[in-house]
Amino acid sequence: MTEKLKNDLLIKACRREPTPRTPVWIMRQAGRYLPEYQKVRAKADFMTMCHTPELAAEVTLQPVDILGVDAAIIFSDILVIPEAMGMTLNFHEGRGPVFKTPLRHARDFEKLRPVIPEEKLDFVLRALKLVNNELARRVPLIGFAGAPWTLAAYMVEGQGSKDFTHIKSLMYTSPGLLKNLLEKLSVAVADFLGAQIHAGAQVVQIFDSWAGQLSPDDFREFSLPYLKEVVQVIRRSGEPIIVFARDARFSLEALSKIGADVLGLSWTADLARARKQVADRVAVQGNLDPCALFAPKDRLRSEVIKVLEKAGDGTGHIFNLGHGILPQTPVENAQALIEFVKQESVKLRS
Ligand code: CP3
Repeated sequence: MTEKLKNDLLIKACRREPTPRTPVWIMRQAGRYLPEYQKVRAKADFMTMCHTPELAAEVTLQPVDILGVDAAIIFSDILVIPEAMGMTLNFHEGRGPVFKTPLRHARDFEKLRPVIPEEKLDFVLRALKLVNNELARRVPLIGFAGAPWTLAAYMVEGQGSKDFTHIKSLMYTSPGLLKNLLEKLSVAVADFLGAQIHAGAQVVQIFDSWAGQLSPDDFREFSLPYLKEVVQVIRRSGEPIIVFARDARFSLEALSKIGADVLGLSWTADLARARKQVADRVAVQGNLDPCALFAPKDRLRSEVIKVLEKAGDGTGHIFNLGHGILPQTPVENAQALIEFVKQESVKLRS
């Protein structure tokens, strides 16, 4: 029998139930802007941190204590799935994660192995359990995975990219090969998210960070069906599902019909307009520009109010940034952001 969460604002907002204030967490909240993170990172490289449950758990908890956010998100990376499929991943300082051998030829695709999360991704499942023990039901714990399209793009490009020529060439020359990969990834992502829920994640988020690289038609063909496939499998568990398809604003209406509970919005979307488009089918999450955290406090407060006002009565809104918090962000501004959301969202409701 599981004990009730002490703070269930996020869960309620995901389900569009009324809350006394708007819940708030920050994408990449366990990250480089925190000196406490840097201290752990000075002793271990990024991939070692991902692979070591004790270290992952330690940094996952930091923003809960330091910022007072309404959720923890497990420290990990979307690229642990391709790694579990057999690809070698190296972390280059200043450049980020890089695959040693990107997928370029049919034979590279054939080598990929199916993923059994309990075997190959057990370090994430163990980290989730450690975090939940430490959290003692204070706030919910978010599990996550990359969307099939974003993972495929990373696996084919081999690293971050500006114009995505490799994956897009593949899309135009061998769509069948790409779809076969997307299908394999959908199974792996659904299995992994299911295992994370089983290990204690109370909410899951799917990051389609590169959705905005696709035209609306291509998004419908190469991302949406696979997101839907994943969502349809994991929604049987009953845990809320957040889909963050960055910059897919032309596809919001379609996205609101795949069975997810929440859609994440980047700051390039108008929150009020997005809410109209998705009607009462889903809750929304977002969408302050991460650079607003470089503003003076009074300006930051007014930017927070602007986002809250666009969310109308606040029901079914989760406050977040429109993308990850930047490494240069002053911690005290991140703390102020959380305070402002808490204070101002109560005021708006009264
Ligand atoms: O939100 C959280 O705090 C949870 C942790 C988390 C990380 N990566 C840790 C991380 C999450 C949810 C991710 C997801 C992720 N990883 C995405 C999708 C979300 C997004 O930001 O669009 C993508 C595309 C990746 C792949 C990735 N990992 C890149 C491109 C990079 C390098 C660029 C960068 O931001 O540094 C990473 C590294 C990474 N992942 C760091 C962290 C804390 C920085 C590592 C370090 O130097 O310490």
